[in-house]
Amino acid sequence: MSFENQKKFERYTITSALPYANGPIHIGHLAGVYVPADIYARYLRLKGRDVLFIGGSDEHGVPITIKARNEGVSPQDIVDKYHGIIKKSFRDFGISFDVYSRTSNAIHHQTASAFFEKLYKNGNFIEQTSEQYYDAENKQFLADRYITGTCPHCSYEKAYGDQCESCGTSLSATDLINPKSALSGNVPQLKETKHWYLPLNEYEPWLKEWIVEGHKNDWRSTVYGQCKSWIDNGLHPRAVTRDLDWGVKVPIQGADGKVLYVWFDAPIGYISASREWAEETGNDWEKYWKDDSTKLVHFIGKDNIVFHCIIFPAMLKAEGSYILPDNVPANEFLNLENDKISTSRNWAVWLHEYLEDFPGKQDVLRYVLTANAPETKDNDFTWKDFQAKNNSELLAIFGNFINRTLVLIQKYYKGRVPAKGILNALDTVTLTELATYPEKIGHSIENYRFREAVGELMNLARLGNKYLTETEPWKTIKTDEKRVETILNIALQISANLAILSEPFIPFTSVKLKEMMGMLASHSWDAAGKDDLINEGLILPTPSLLFERIEDEAIEAQVQKLLNTKKANESQAIKASPAKENINFEDFAKMDIRVGTILEAVKVAKTKKLLQLKVDMGFDQRTIVSGIAEYFQPEEIIGKQVSVLVNLEPKTLRGIESQGMILMAENADGSLKFVAPFSNTINGSEIK
Ligand code: 2FM
Ligand code: ZN
Repeated sequence: MSFENQKKFERYTITSALPYANGPIHIGHLAGVYVPADIYARYLRLKGRDVLFIGGSDEHGVPITIKARNEGVSPQDIVDKYHGIIKKSFRDFGISFDVYSRTSNAIHHQTASAFFEKLYKNGNFIEQTSEQYYDAENKQFLADRYITGTCPHCSYEKAYGDQCESCGTSLSATDLINPKSALSGNVPQLKETKHWYLPLNEYEPWLKEWIVEGHKNDWRSTVYGQCKSWIDNGLHPRAVTRDLDWGVKVPIQGADGKVLYVWFDAPIGYISASREWAEETGNDWEKYWKDDSTKLVHFIGKDNIVFHCIIFPAMLKAEGSYILPDNVPANEFLNLENDKISTSRNWAVWLHEYLEDFPGKQDVLRYVLTANAPETKDNDFTWKDFQAKNNSELLAIFGNFINRTLVLIQKYYKGRVPAKGILNALDTVTLTELATYPEKIGHSIENYRFREAVGELMNLARLGNKYLTETEPWKTIKTDEKRVETILNIALQISANLAILSEPFIPFTSVKLKEMMGMLASHSWDAAGKDDLINEGLILPTPSLLFERIEDEAIEAQVQKLLNTKKANESQAIKASPAKENINFEDFAKMDIRVGTILEAVKVAKTKKLLQLKVDMGFDQRTIVSGIAEYFQPEEIIGKQVSVLVNLEPKTLRGIESQGMILMAENADGSLKFVAPFSNTINGSEIK
């Protein structure tokens, strides 16, 4: 049985979502998009296929301009900074892009402009003038995130003009209730403006045929389901331009002050990056985008599905000369310790910080994120699971097998690879099973089931461990030295297979492993499955450990870091309430507030909250009942000076007449603090 896909493609164009260059990247990005895309690209290269793996920074869009404005720098400053940080993180984690470009490059502006122009000339757009929100103070139309208001669907008060982040609904700015400009905070005006729209409704019949009927069985059900529901709900024309000064200028007459909508230009970024790569390497980019024998695959997160499955394909279809994606294996979301990853709440594991805390452990993270990939549903990353996967899988299964094999070869043969000799039944069964792995793992990868694939890789290491446990070379060496040569030769061949087959998943380990077995870096995937990868007589270098135990302290430090973040977020969330309405001085002067000293304090029987106090006011001593028992013990407040509203009408509480009120400062969390003079003051002093 062959696992090859029915159609044999000649080359592969693999795109990975272009991250916005307005912040560093975190484990959610890696798990959702870049690790699976990299596994796929590396695997195909090992299969000898022609691969173009594309990445780059998405450098347009309103959030970048807002960040720039808040920080008092230019949008170009922002994207320059984060493009560098992001690019470095990808390199550090071994994401093997053939090109990592950026959408502020001239080649992208040219490509996106030309694309728009072609559609414009083809008559693919509708021109429409409509009323849109405008900030008169800043003389600016308020696109997308420049406007906030209440979501008409879920009443969330901080919804954006393009989307409500609470209920996920995609919105138009004019849908918002109580709209406010994010620039000035003012209520915006409506003002006429002209834009160009892609009439998605016209593509509905074609999208139904291509996706609903054509990709029912080969696209992930989560992706297919989202597309189907968009199409079933009816598609509408979508504006592809914006009134902004940051982005790709709309390349037609009468479009001053307008740029392409970021979601129109960003996916064209994949094409621009391909052109950049072709210029640098002397290749032809067009066959990667326009030849039917090319397989185009988009790796994205689930929030990007509509753009990659509906809008971008409609753009490509309208243009006419491009191929369409064969698959869009979008992942669901990765949560962190049971909470949604959030940049604004700093609830994330940032890649650059991970590497500071776990230097050299890129593969551990790659492995954990693959073994726990959110392929069919949202998944949770926990530090405990990270530790368990390192200690009980990478170290105890994979690393342990390799280490036992290489250490025994050093011990018995001074590192010289022993002969295979004569095989017995167990050897043959083991080698027959070994031979199935390349195809098994490859089949899972080609079907975008990366969790399953890495699970099979670990099963191969388990096969190796089982073989050593059953053959016990450390015992057999005492009775049958020849047999041990065979056992360790076979164990070494399994290790060599692991070195090849692990490359897509844990590439740094694979390189190290190949070095430890004197293997060429360039072994192909199809060389695996065999038992003659390492020649008899080769002298192996002294092995080193592939993985280290991760101790509880390291994990506790990470958990503590997150707890600190949570605390910081909570204290920020507690905000002071706004000031009340103004009063005049006469109103204030009616209040007689004095300094007094608490002489006695006792709990009021059968209440939780009340203390009965005797307070010396200088001019009298009076009884006051105060609701502070939950915050203070009677004995700790005796002798304290406090502020008292002395002319408040007396009130009887639990049968005790209270002759005034102790003034307290109430925190947003409800806790109370005395309002007292800064230093000791004569009782009866007026507070005014
Ligand atoms: O969601 C995002 O982070 C977008 N910047 C992805 C863009 S993907 C592509 F179209 F460029
Ligand atoms: Zn909402």
